[in-house]
Amino acid sequence: MTQRAGRQVVRKAVVPAAGFGTRFLPATKAMPKEMLPVVDKPAIQYVVEEAVVAGLDDVLFITGRNKRALEDHFDRNFELEEVLRIKGDDERLTMVTAASDLARIHYVRQGEPLGLGHAVLMAENHVGDEPFAVLLGDDLIDPRDPVLVRMLQVRAECGGSVICLMAVPRASISLYGCPAVVETGSGDVVIVTDLIEKPDVAEAPSSFAVIGRYVLDPAVFEVLRATKPGRGGEIQLTDALRVLAQMPEDAGGGVRGVVFGGRRYDTGDRVSYLQSVIQMACERPDLGPELRTWLKEFAAELP
Ligand code: UTP
Repeated sequence: MTQRAGRQVVRKAVVPAAGFGTRFLPATKAMPKEMLPVVDKPAIQYVVEEAVVAGLDDVLFITGRNKRALEDHFDRNFELEEVLRIKGDDERLTMVTAASDLARIHYVRQGEPLGLGHAVLMAENHVGDEPFAVLLGDDLIDPRDPVLVRMLQVRAECGGSVICLMAVPRASISLYGCPAVVETGSGDVVIVTDLIEKPDVAEAPSSFAVIGRYVLDPAVFEVLRATKPGRGGEIQLTDALRVLAQMPEDAGGGVRGVVFGGRRYDTGDRVSYLQSVIQMACERPDLGPELRTWLKEFAAELP
């Protein structure tokens, strides 16, 4: 264990929600895409629940121009609570108060959505000189496969930064950030030597996709400040990670990847979002039986 790794515990989670969400327009015209319901909860609530389960109950949202819905969701709604109380609907009352009781929530504004790297840089004042986690609402991780907990273990053991990797079909690698990796001989952990954002299939250095969970060393902030706009004119977190991967460990460098083979639901584009909603609803004891029966009949009649 490096000295740097040993003395710093991860306590804070950063959840960027300031993107334009153009793929979901017009639904995202007046609310962030992270507020889109996945079955009956906004995507961002699953992400906050995951952070809390991993021991991170200080959550900073990076918000954009449409932050109102987000703030209201994680705040109390006394009027609604009163109505449910009068009706004696304790079950829904618990659901409604759950979001506001989850964690200590903070907000910081990203004036212009200049990219995920820029969004993370907005967290610097709140995070300070501590390692921290970043969770994206585009990826939902099944609570039965707590990869963030594993990533925090790797950070505690090795220091540096830790990213989450999943093997994907090579043909789809150009949808993701893609790392060059070296095996460590220790099961699910690899050393990341380089990264490319959305590479052409022929240029992809591996078949691993970077998934939206990161444990970052605070050294990332200085790197991000020096990162020029990259692909799509945006300040890319991937570009900063690439620099970190090549920096010495005693300066906060070093990037490891945890190879995740568990259940992940992709909510980033419309088709995968719809698939995720159906998959998750099918697994729910309250909705699954009815939905599965209908789905089988529906699928049988598809042309
Ligand atoms: P995406 O690129 O998937 O989000 O960013 P987007 O730009 O909102 O979506 P599309 O492509 O237009 O449909 C990944 C995550 O980073 C956040 C987004 O909110 C999302 O959670 N993000 C992105 C920011 O917070 N700020 C940015 O400037 C860019």
